[in-house]
Amino acid sequence: MAGGYGTRLHPITLATSKQLLPVYDKPLIYYPLSMLMLAGLREIAVVCTPLSQPQFEAVLGDGRKWGLEIVYVAQAEPRGVAEAFLLCADYIAGDSVCLILGDNFFYGHGLPEVLQEAASLKEGAQVFAYPVANPSEFGVVEFDGTGRVLSLEEKPSRPRSHHAVTGIYFYDGQVCAIARELKPSGRGELEITDVNRTYLERDELRVTELGRGVAWLDTGTHDSLLEASRLVQMLQQRQGLMVSAPEEIAWRRGFISLAQMKDLGQRMAGNAYGQYLVTLAEQVARNQPSAPADA
Ligand code: DAU
Repeated sequence: MAGGYGTRLHPITLATSKQLLPVYDKPLIYYPLSMLMLAGLREIAVVCTPLSQPQFEAVLGDGRKWGLEIVYVAQAEPRGVAEAFLLCADYIAGDSVCLILGDNFFYGHGLPEVLQEAASLKEGAQVFAYPVANPSEFGVVEFDGTGRVLSLEEKPSRPRSHHAVTGIYFYDGQVCAIARELKPSGRGELEITDVNRTYLERDELRVTELGRGVAWLDTGTHDSLLEASRLVQMLQQRQGLMVSAPEEIAWRRGFISLAQMKDLGQRMAGNAYGQYLVTLAEQVARNQPSAPADA
């Protein structure tokens, strides 16, 4: 979901989309896109404003360079996150589906395994909870002592817990029919929290807590955008490993070959991003001398 006017970030989003702003060395959308790829998902619909669609196309293309199939779906007005399921109903075609918000940043140990497990979901819905200091700015989930979900509320003025619902959601094939029944909320939006509440009422909602080993940032403000950039800078400089480089993930997941990843790096060989990909490809090839270059 990469639409919206980004008004909270004006004036920097007057001429471009929030999800195309830089988080350190990559456009913001690379990070949620990387989560989909880590989950093993390769058929991706980017929902964006009609005006910004050419910009997203210039950055992501049809996805083939990363072994993906990317299509674009225009959202004329920001009528709510859950409108994704009305706009993409034909594309989803009754299948199970993952929705990720284009401004959500996740990083942490064990995430790929958690995401892959969630992506294998066939029935019900799976969402994730994360402790935050400012719950009234999010969807909030309340648990009882045994971990059972008691309530879900969107931006409550008096939150019943400190657990925010993060912006990655996995649903079964019922989700488009559920979205068709939604009425706009008080703020005039089709709320994703109402979709989740329907699953909760059907006793088909699973909420998993993301532990403190995971960083989750909603990059909707200037400060959180800067925090995310600082985190990526710190991790990359310390480890020498890239955070959420789609080229590397595509290769590690087997969507593209080592030779293809190296070629993508060579096209950017004049900068540190491209050099990283080329060096990685050469190191791997050196360590597996018997393997073909594009294994
Ligand atoms: O980040 C997690 C939170 O995201 C959840 O805890 C909330 O339950 C959920 O409603 C959502 O709240 P936000 O107020 O942060 O949503 P926001 O309006 O900022 O939109 C999230 C992303 O989706 C953002 O990148 C813009 C995009 N968007 C939003 C709307 C309303 C669209 O593409 N179309 C839309 O109509």
